[in-house]
Amino acid sequence: MAAPAGEQYEVTNMKLFDTHAHYDDSQFDHDRDELIASLPGQGVSLVLCPGCGMRSSRAVIALAERFPFVYAAVGIHPHEADTMTAAELPALLDMAEHPKVKAVGEIGLDYHYDFAPRDTQLFCLRAQMELAKSAGLPVIVHDREAHEDTLRLLRAFPTVRGVVHCYSGSMESAKELLALGYYISFTGVVTYKNARKALETAAWLPGERLLLETDAPYLTPEPHRSHRNDSTYLRLTCETLAALRGVSAEALAAQTRENGLALFNIKE
Ligand code: NI
Repeated sequence: MAAPAGEQYEVTNMKLFDTHAHYDDSQFDHDRDELIASLPGQGVSLVLCPGCGMRSSRAVIALAERFPFVYAAVGIHPHEADTMTAAELPALLDMAEHPKVKAVGEIGLDYHYDFAPRDTQLFCLRAQMELAKSAGLPVIVHDREAHEDTLRLLRAFPTVRGVVHCYSGSMESAKELLALGYYISFTGVVTYKNARKALETAAWLPGERLLLETDAPYLTPEPHRSHRNDSTYLRLTCETLAALRGVSAEALAAQTRENGLALFNIKE
């Protein structure tokens, strides 16, 4: 459901890059094409859709084939880690060679939900870091309550770069991620009341390492938190962070867009 007409944002010259949106999610089944097609007219000029498993990775590639401003990443989410079989790695590598696939993701560790056993999650992450290394692609990393193990694994692959999405770690971890060449990405969580830690990092982070994302359909920014999220709400995250950093929203949109183009090696 798009915002009601009265809430529709003014069309400005803002050009946001939503670096993480799950448009293959079933919550978009009734309006996916219409919604995606409307994004460039609503200030969102680029979208990257990460895959969360084999089927999801195929689905986001299909979306990227249909919309010129949509790109894809392929990967197996830590929630799905125990569905990964060794036979799937070559198929994943095949998908990674598609011209619109710009990253391996969403991969990582989730010790909050622990949907898959931790050693399976670690195995799955390591295998996909190897895959990113051989495909020459950056990674999109999910790290929930697993900061130490995540950092240890990223450190083991010094030639791989990427982004830690929906950042929730400490300033200390952020510094180490920057030293490893990683970007850090923020969602609508920065508009929530309990976002103090994320805001601390977001205020301090060098501008050239910052990315913006929705993680749609999840994590809708305030004051729309009860609605399904989509890329048109990214503006609210951008405005919150721009105010925090003392720059204009347009400047932050432009900078984070440039950062995304650089990390994901997208040439327009
Ligand atoms: Ni996600």
